[in-house]
Amino acid sequence: MSTIQLKKSDSMTVKSVKPRESVFFDTNSLKWLPWVIEGTWFKLLNVDMKTGGYTMILKVEPDNDAPVHGHVGAVEGLILEGEFGYDDDRGPGMHYVWEPAGAIHQPDSPGGFTMFAVMHGPLLGYNDDGSIAAVVDGKMMYQMAKEGGGADHITVDFPDID
Ligand SMILES: [Fe+2]
Repeated sequence: MSTIQLKKSDSMTVKSVKPRESVFFDTNSLKWLPWVIEGTWFKLLNVDMKTGGYTMILKVEPDNDAPVHGHVGAVEGLILEGEFGYDDDRGPGMHYVWEPAGAIHQPDSPGGFTMFAVMHGPLLGYNDDGSIAAVVDGKMMYQMAKEGGGADHITVDFPDID
């Protein structure tokens, strides 16, 4: 088995390029905005115009009664505080969660939780008859964040959103 290690060198011809703007953003500067499920809050960090996905911090209040929802794309998350789960499959703080594309589920969280989440595609809400009630994609998230004053840091161009 070979091991590769990247090392510093003074003779490198490839030089580091300083970006024009900071690559960091202080999420403390964003206020929590109400999300699509009652008792849930979000801070939108970025959107992916290609996949309809988005990156956010999600906060869920204790004893939230989440509806069944679906995922067009996978979800990757890191639980920052609290815990949530699906029956006996549960994740506390600093646990990574992977929800595959096509998942349909109903999480519960008696104590509430906060999670950093990358949605690799839209989230779906359903009507009683199984038809789709809502497609929560990056564009919808951007519009909600913009209306709440929490999208100025995001550089996207949806031509129909001023
Ligand atoms: Fe989910």
